[in-house]
Amino acid sequence: MERSSALANLATTLLFCLAICSCAISISSAQASTNTEFIRTSCSKTTYPRLCYTSLSSHATLVQTSPKLLAGAALNVTLDKARSTSTMMVRLSRAQGMKSREVGAMRDCVEELSSSVDELRRSIGEMGEIKGSSNFGLIMNDVQTWVSAALTDENTCSDGFSGSMMNGNMKTVVRNEILTIAHLTSNALALINRYASLHG
Ligand SMILES: *[C@@H]1O[C@H](CO)[C@@H](O)[C@H](O)[C@H]1NC(C)=O
Repeated sequence: MERSSALANLATTLLFCLAICSCAISISSAQASTNTEFIRTSCSKTTYPRLCYTSLSSHATLVQTSPKLLAGAALNVTLDKARSTSTMMVRLSRAQGMKSREVGAMRDCVEELSSSVDELRRSIGEMGEIKGSSNFGLIMNDVQTWVSAALTDENTCSDGFSGSMMNGNMKTVVRNEILTIAHLTSNALALINRYASLHG
């Protein structure tokens, strides 16, 4: 008799845990879908919504539904991409068999990309300096200026490239990489503008 009541107790306890657990899981999955939906909705107002969503959806847990964190994540993703492309181009420009004119176009581009990396890094630093509403407008103004400058540098780089005499394949690869950075930057700027306007 005693044994079966112990078993019944155990079963009750197990069922209870199971209920709490599945409830917790469904709350957290509802939360996750709210977070991804926030990114999708915010991205739909950018110029390159698909790129925006694919580049940012993996940051949903961190971003949750914060326009500030979303803008920050967009800047981080853009900076990472600009850095890695810059490294790739430095490596390419040292490759054997490139004509000096091609190397020149590549070097100019690397320099412009490196300015854009600095500007993006500075913007990320500035975003971290927001202290309530006292300096919000000033900081956001700076951030918008830096990110616009980064975008200009990237466009200069990709324009210079389309005119260069580089062999077709490499030109296409490099140009596409730079266009991706410019599109990421444009999206980040849109998300920054959105965040700024929410507080304006
Ligand atoms: C951006 O990158 C910095 C440095 O890696 C990190 O500390 C921060 O959490 C990131 N911000 C977002 C919103 O992802």
